[in-house]
Amino acid sequence: MDGHQSTIVVEGTVAREQLHVFYVTCWVSLVIFIIVGSVLAYATFKFRARSDADEHAEPPPQGHGNPLIELGLIGASVLALVVIAVPTLKAIWSTYDVPEAEKKDAYQINATGYQWWFKFEYPGELAPINSAGAKAPLVTGNELVIPAGQAVRINLRTVDVIHSFWLPKLAGKVDMIPNRANAIYIRADKPGYFWGQCAEYCGDSHAVMRFRVIALEKKEFSEWLEQQSQLGRTVATRAADTNRPKAQFASLRTFKQNEAGITEKFDINPLEAWRAKQAPEKNEDAELIAKGKQLFTAKACLACHTIRGHDAPGVTAPDLTHIGARTTIAAGLLENNSEQLRRWIHNPGAVKPGNKMSLAYARTGPDGKPIDGIKLTPDDEVALVAYLESLK
Ligand code: CUA
Repeated sequence: MDGHQSTIVVEGTVAREQLHVFYVTCWVSLVIFIIVGSVLAYATFKFRARSDADEHAEPPPQGHGNPLIELGLIGASVLALVVIAVPTLKAIWSTYDVPEAEKKDAYQINATGYQWWFKFEYPGELAPINSAGAKAPLVTGNELVIPAGQAVRINLRTVDVIHSFWLPKLAGKVDMIPNRANAIYIRADKPGYFWGQCAEYCGDSHAVMRFRVIALEKKEFSEWLEQQSQLGRTVATRAADTNRPKAQFASLRTFKQNEAGITEKFDINPLEAWRAKQAPEKNEDAELIAKGKQLFTAKACLACHTIRGHDAPGVTAPDLTHIGARTTIAAGLLENNSEQLRRWIHNPGAVKPGNKMSLAYARTGPDGKPIDGIKLTPDDEVALVAYLESLK
C-alpha cells in the first residue's frame, strides 16, 4: 500500500480528507455487502432443493412483499446515502480551494502542462534573466519545490492538450484544460519528496509525463529560492585535470543494456539525494564544460531552452538554468546522472517517443537530407553532459 504514488498512505491535508471519504464509502459498502450477502446465502441454503420431488415441485405462492419491510429498506438505503454524502460534500467544499483563513498566506505557483513535461513558475519570485539585471518570475521544470506545512495554491494551465495534475500523496487530480483557469490546493505535512504524474491521456508519451515535488522547511526553501534566483553558473576555466577518471560515461552498449534502467529507485532517502544534488560536483573539468557551453549554442539547443545568464532564451522547452540540481530529467522519467543524461540527449525519441527534442534532431533540409549541424558526436555528448551537470 505504501508505494511512491499511494493514495492510502498520505502525507498532506487534502489527500487525508479524500482518504477519509474513501474509507467512509468503503465501510458503508462493506456493511451492505455483508447484510445482502448473508441474506442471500441464508435463502440459498434454507430453500435449496433437498430431493428429486423438491426439484420438480411447483414454485411456492408468490407474494408482493411486506410494505413495512419495503419502506424499511428504502429508509435504510437513504440513511446509507446520507452517511456517505455528508462527509463527501464537506470534503468537496473544503478541498476545492485554500481555506478562507489561509488565503492571504497561501503560496502561489503556476503550473503549465506541455506535451510531455511540466513548467513551474513562481510569480512572486523575480529572478534576473541577464547580467543587465532584467527580471522575470522564476521558472523551473518538472521538479516543483514548495514550502512544507503551508497551503500552496497551484494555478493549472496547458499550452496544448488536456493534461491532469496528480500528486497522489498530497491531493487528488485536477485537469489542466485549454482556456480554463483551474487550480489545485495542496499542503505537505512535513518536508518530503513526492512523485507526481499526468493522469489524463495526452498523446504518445502520456505514460512517461511525470514530475516531482520537494517540500522543504521554510528556511531551506528560502535558501533554495535564493540559489535558484542566481544566473546560470559558470565554471572558471583552469588547466584541465588530466587525472580525471576516463570511464565517467557509460559506452553506448551499456546504455542499451540499461534500457530497463528507467528507474524510480534511489540508493538513499530521495530527499537526501535531492539535497546532495544542490552542491557542485567534485572534479569538474572546466575546459570540457566550456566546450559543452559552446555546443549548447552551436547545436541550437538555446532555440528551445532557457539558461538565464548564458544567452539561451528559448521558452518552448524546460528551463535548464539549474538542471544540474535536479534529481530527474526527461519529465521525472530518468535519474539525473551522467549516464542517463547522455542516453537522453543521444536519442530522446527512444526514451520519450514523439517528444519535440527528437523531432528537432530529425529535422531535414530542403534537399530532404538530415541537417548534420545538429548531430552530436560522442565527444559532443560528453561535453554537453558535463556542461548541464555544472548548472547547479
Ligand atoms: Cu499529459 Cu497525460
